[in-house]
Amino acid sequence: MTKFYITTAIHYVNDDPHIGHMYENIVADVIARHRRRMGDDVRFLTGTDEHGQKIERAAAKEGIQPIELADRVVKTHHELWKRLDISHDDFIRTTEQRHRLGVLELIRRIQEHNPTDIYLGEHSGWYCQNEETFIPENQVKDGVDTDGHKVEWTTESNYFFKLSAYADRLLAHYREHPEFVWPPTRLNEVVAFVEQGLKDLSISRSSIKWGIPFPGNPDHVIYVWMDALTNYISALGFGTTEDAALEQYWPADVQLVGKDIVRFHAVYWPAFLMAAGIEPPKRVVGHGWWLRDQQKISKSLGNVVRPYNILDDFGPDALRYYVMREMVFGQDQDYSDQSLLTRYNADLANDLGNTLSRAIKMSDTYFGGKTPPVRCFTNDLLDMTRTVVPQYLEHMDNLAFQRALESVWELLNAINSYIVTREPWKHFKEKGADDALSRILWDALEALRIVWVMMAPFIPRSTREALSRLGADPEKIDRGALQWGGLEANRPLRVADPIFPRIDVAQYIGEKKMEETKPETPAAASAPPTTAAAPAPAAESGPPVETTQAAPPDLAKISIDQFMQTDLRVAEIRAAERVPKSKKLIKMTVFTGADERTIVAGIGTKYAPEELVGRKVVIVANLQPAKLMGIESNGMVLAASIDGEPSLLSVDPSVPAGTKVR
Ligand code: ME8
Ligand code: MG
Repeated sequence: MTKFYITTAIHYVNDDPHIGHMYENIVADVIARHRRRMGDDVRFLTGTDEHGQKIERAAAKEGIQPIELADRVVKTHHELWKRLDISHDDFIRTTEQRHRLGVLELIRRIQEHNPTDIYLGEHSGWYCQNEETFIPENQVKDGVDTDGHKVEWTTESNYFFKLSAYADRLLAHYREHPEFVWPPTRLNEVVAFVEQGLKDLSISRSSIKWGIPFPGNPDHVIYVWMDALTNYISALGFGTTEDAALEQYWPADVQLVGKDIVRFHAVYWPAFLMAAGIEPPKRVVGHGWWLRDQQKISKSLGNVVRPYNILDDFGPDALRYYVMREMVFGQDQDYSDQSLLTRYNADLANDLGNTLSRAIKMSDTYFGGKTPPVRCFTNDLLDMTRTVVPQYLEHMDNLAFQRALESVWELLNAINSYIVTREPWKHFKEKGADDALSRILWDALEALRIVWVMMAPFIPRSTREALSRLGADPEKIDRGALQWGGLEANRPLRVADPIFPRIDVAQYIGEKKMEETKPETPAAASAPPTTAAAPAPAAESGPPVETTQAAPPDLAKISIDQFMQTDLRVAEIRAAERVPKSKKLIKMTVFTGADERTIVAGIGTKYAPEELVGRKVVIVANLQPAKLMGIESNGMVLAASIDGEPSLLSVDPSVPAGTKVR
């Protein structure tokens, strides 16, 4: 069996988890569940980071001991992960004895292997308490760092780790293991950072009491990051006599962290390990941030989102699905309740839930409450699963979760049209429940079974329910279950209320001020839903209907004259450069046939300026000018958007610039 060790960052206990923390654990859980059902020996670790100044101060503010704060907050973590169906195998707290032993052992090993790597020295600098780290001089202005956090000038006599000696070894490691940091753009950042040269790192603090005492000098505590990073091995028993798990699972296969802490994991952590003669992890995976109004959601910015009401009212799968589907893994994404509920209605209630209900209902009616008696092994849906399933698996391996889900939807859409074009209800009326009807419906149900098996890591609870309604084994979600033929004939099915009842979004948003609210007491958290879901549409429970797809959003119809007011033209890109300090924006000079003008477009995540020059595109030429990062843009370049990734509309290169498009 292949072992697979996956970890999340351990979250600070100065505050309850928010959507960013939930996201990280959901992603790790999806990966863990997927690897488990593919047959790996999975170990999934999460936990809490409980030492350091941040927590010391938060506790002092409340007039309690840091451990009291930690004990209280760690409970909210346990409750939340349980409610979200997070399937971790272990949960580590840095205040545990096993962890302390691991940290002391790491230091001992470094001293043993490289006796001069830890030394006593003096250091002054701008210290950011929020990040628990010194901030380089050039990133501090007016007492705040580039993230807007307050910094304090601090002088300390500390123990240092000779990080400077590891730059070359780290660079060699990145070269030999380009998969070490994902995504590649993050690897580039890490490489650039290390190439600038590394300064020694202070690894003790004498200004703080709340931490693990430094060996041989109890006036100091161990720097919280050195302490925290060690959790990944202390949880495997490193430094204790029970370290069989270390042998079995280390090095970690995936260390999942937010992009803000990739540097700690991809620079400091492997350097500590190298110094101690321990192998670095195989891969550090940096996910993006959940934003609100384009700002990182964080306690220090005071814009946290805690969708506890969504969890109360719709269960974990609505949230799990939303975060996995909406965010392009690795990139940032804005959160809104509105988008969550819209996705829920369109994707879960309509596409996934409704299709299941209809197929089950038909089989129930035509075949006496059972799966159809005759199975089928030559049909379009079977062919489709043969292409879709491998694609899905490849996307899962590549951490392209939204693409994996798109593959599922390809099959789901095909099932819908399969049903619509074969009109089983008509067939039943005309010919009764014959073998042909049996095959049609069995095909649809079998393909649906595979759809749900693909969904299992994402929405495990609903998947179990759906599979059992279908007459399939709810626990059978392994590799074999992704193959055609799993659904048996003549199995009892279960017609029931929608798994994902539709939500009246306007009503729901109006009734709840969800985002800031959080249950006051644990009792309230588990109280039954207060808002009954809006009544299901007729199609859920009534006879099969023919329309299955969610209609595109209802845009008002416009006349041809109105359309003609838009001046669409072919233009040629003559120059392109990135807008400084922007990842997305590219400033282009385009030739419209009549003039050369500047257009700024948010296509920089997908296109490099070099590949744009010479290209023909379609522009809206009569758009009012707009200022983007101080640059006036005159017009707009048309692009399709796939998960927020732009794909430029292109025209045949032989079409001259200035040609009208209509
Ligand atoms: O950094 N969107 O803890 P933490 C997505 N204790 N992810 C987010 C996020 C957001 N808005 N906000 C935070 C720490 N995260 C340290 C880690 S590991 C040895 C020590 C992610 O509670 C963040 O990127 O501030 C990090 O991976 C995790 O949540 C914990 O953040
Ligand atoms: Mg943080």
